[in-house]
Amino acid sequence: MLTLSEPMLLRSQNLIDDQWRDAGLGARLAVTDPATAEAFANVADSDAGDARLAVDAAAAAFPAWSRRPARERAQLLKRWHALILEHEEDLARIISTEQGKPLKEARGEVQYGASYVEWFAEEATRICGDIVAEAVPGRKLLVLKEPVGVVAAITPWNFPLAMIARKIAPALAAGCTVVAKPAEDTPLTALALAWLAQQAGMPAGVVNIVTASREHTPGVVDAWLSDSRVRKVTFTGSTPVGKHLARESAATLKKLSLELGGNAPFIVFDDADLDAAVDGLMASKFRNGGQTCVCPNRVYVHDTVHDDFVERLARRVGALHVGPATEDAAQIGPMINARAVDKIARHVEDAVARGARVVTGGKRVRSADGPHYYAPTVLVDATPAMELSCEETFGPVAPIFRFCDEAEVIRDANDTPFGLAAYFYSNDIRRIWRVAQALETGMVGINEGAIAAEAAPFGGVKESGYGREGSRHGLDDYMHTKYLCQGQLG
Ligand code: SIN
Repeated sequence: MLTLSEPMLLRSQNLIDDQWRDAGLGARLAVTDPATAEAFANVADSDAGDARLAVDAAAAAFPAWSRRPARERAQLLKRWHALILEHEEDLARIISTEQGKPLKEARGEVQYGASYVEWFAEEATRICGDIVAEAVPGRKLLVLKEPVGVVAAITPWNFPLAMIARKIAPALAAGCTVVAKPAEDTPLTALALAWLAQQAGMPAGVVNIVTASREHTPGVVDAWLSDSRVRKVTFTGSTPVGKHLARESAATLKKLSLELGGNAPFIVFDDADLDAAVDGLMASKFRNGGQTCVCPNRVYVHDTVHDDFVERLARRVGALHVGPATEDAAQIGPMINARAVDKIARHVEDAVARGARVVTGGKRVRSADGPHYYAPTVLVDATPAMELSCEETFGPVAPIFRFCDEAEVIRDANDTPFGLAAYFYSNDIRRIWRVAQALETGMVGINEGAIAAEAAPFGGVKESGYGREGSRHGLDDYMHTKYLCQGQLG
């Protein structure tokens, strides 16, 4: 049962042009609690018609919003930021209930998401172009930054607040307007954020949210992809969907930011501080129950420290408390849905069949509470032949691979089409630079497991996508560069 101190946060309709509206065809989408797999709310199940209405509103709002002084846009974002923090507890409860993240982590997500809103409110006032030294007398060369136009933001379920905040905030800061579709599993947080944006005084049409089921999502997304008024698509999610978006937006050559799948390596060298490495792995692997794109998916431990590391890690992992997200003691909540738990179980079964050994976990748990719990797991003797080595498990499973030398582990770490994040622990300064440069990823944690921050550029290389979120680069992704050449100046 979800009770909020501000019941207005619980929305069940789309926000289009400052109006809360049902889907045109009246369809509804049930929202389920992953702890129990039972429906506890419902929202609009929109189709292409609703998606086009949202673009109509965003396109109509764009000229005035983009011309509004940056400081005014910043002030509205700051008001939104303050309201998000003011409603932290309610938002955290919505996140935990629809996504399954333990409450303590959900509160952290509210602060994390809000930090992007504050960051981009500040960055809005620092958008600068250039005046270039003239090559020819009598000419002035100027470079302006301009908002790209209407942005379509498509966001995942694993961080229902932070991911949409870090797309909408830079878009608005740059002067763009937004149509957004949250994941079908977690629409309520996005709608609550949109209500807060409305309370902050965002003008009509600047932020529009459309919710849709898995079945109707393609219709909504295709309506945006084929609409030439939508000038940018920003997406966080799987690589196959990212490739579809890239292909389908080619006809109108939209700007794209794609934050896609990862298969992060986490390397523990023989000169590492093992306690720090265990802390780092606990923080990055078990955050959100292992359901993050930057979670380590393959843990490489040097032969000489392997057994010691595994023993320390297994003690910590075995002590993690699994339980409903809204229970104060919970450190690992339910996985998002049945498909997610089935995939985790399949990966562990495949690994064991191919020679891995379960040190702790390795099974479904708490089935009396609900069907979506999986025990935090450590496996040893993992090899590249196992499914979990090639594919993101997206669950609380740490498979340990033993290695003997640096060149070998770098080759293995890079032996994947993905390149989002990598982590390593070492106290040798030469090795640190060597390895950091050799790893083929967009982000590297060096003696650090928690790398994401609003001031840092988040994003990948290879099939993990392109574009950056956060930092000043995150704002650039919502602008294009216009060059002015003025002649006849004598
Ligand atoms: C993600 O899993 O896509 C985002 C994780 C983060 O922001 O740290």
